[in-house]
Amino acid sequence: MSALALQENAARALAWRQVTARVARHQDYGAGHRWLDLVLPAVAPRPLAGQFVQLLLEAPSPVLLPRPMSVAAAATRGDRLVLGFLYAPVGSGTRTLAALEPGDHVEVLSPLGRGYPLEIKGTPVLVAGGRGVAPLLFAADALARSGRRCEFFFGARDRGRLVGLEEARRRLDRMGSRLHLATDDGSRGFHGTVMDLLDRVALRLPQPLVIHACGPHSMLKAVARWGTGHGVPAYVAMESIMACGTGVCRGCPLPRSSQARAAYGRSGDGVPPSLLGNRDYAMCCTEGPVFAAEDLDWERVE
Ligand SMILES: Cc1cc2nc3c(=O)[nH]c(=O)nc-3n(C[C@H](O)[C@H](O)[C@H](O)COP(=O)(O)OP(=O)(O)OC[C@H]3O[C@@H](n4cnc5c(N)ncnc54)[C@H](O)[C@@H]3O)c2cc1C
Ligand code: FES
Repeated sequence: MSALALQENAARALAWRQVTARVARHQDYGAGHRWLDLVLPAVAPRPLAGQFVQLLLEAPSPVLLPRPMSVAAAATRGDRLVLGFLYAPVGSGTRTLAALEPGDHVEVLSPLGRGYPLEIKGTPVLVAGGRGVAPLLFAADALARSGRRCEFFFGARDRGRLVGLEEARRRLDRMGSRLHLATDDGSRGFHGTVMDLLDRVALRLPQPLVIHACGPHSMLKAVARWGTGHGVPAYVAMESIMACGTGVCRGCPLPRSSQARAAYGRSGDGVPPSLLGNRDYAMCCTEGPVFAAEDLDWERVE
């Protein structure tokens, strides 16, 4: 990331607050997912695309630790902030979340981590796998607000897993951005992976390109490899299993690349060193979740 982008992102990473949010909307979103809108009080800073929040579920929730969730949309309503989330109820925390009703309250730490460096010049190529679509639609909104269109690549194993496809199409159409679809089984769009599709069309896009991606780590690994092979910078939103979300518990390590290990300690971007990882491991919550792909050791990422 550029020094300026790092500093802006680091300043945002430290600006989080704990606030009480109200559930404004909570509904099924198809493909086993749900959409949640939370209204936050005015003191809560507006998140950058790629940042996340921690949702603290109150007793009688069976989970003690908060659950991290990417911000999928942000809008101001009067002096309030409305944040949207797209999630799948997969375990005890997210199933408890799924039971919240409009009017219920939830404690939120927001905004956390570093977002996508969208100010980097070049044609923004957004690569989403499955529910990775959530933070990237927010990124597409942010780009559109600054007058930039994106090329949006959306892939999944099959058509049923293209989460919220129609909503994505509507939002991207409105922005004048282009949607490229791929499914592994060919049931919708290009037959193959989203990276096979990017490989096919990349040369026809206005150069240079800059990639912002979110999806399963296996897909992000392919993004990293493709970016390195084609000299295209790539920024990827990672998911570690998290506890605190604020750099304190040291529970969300990701292995640094040899290049990042060599540069360790030189960035001086303003985040207290005690909240960062060490020379070998980055903390996903404070140094990510968005990383420059070249900063991670993909052979050791799980
Ligand atoms: C930065 C970040 C952003 C995220 N954004 C979203 C989002 O936008 N939408 C969404 O649906 N989920 C998102 N997640 C994942 C979400 O937090 C997990 O689904 C959640 O923590 C699982 O909690 P649970 O209590 O329901 O499941 P648990 O009962 O704790 O676990 C159920 C299963 O999920 C696995 N799991 C637990 N935590 C994670 C994790 N962090 N990543 C991957 N697998 C996990 C467990 O190993 C287990 O197999 C994000 C995670 C991170 C770190
Ligand atoms: S989750 Fe605690 S340090 Fe990252």
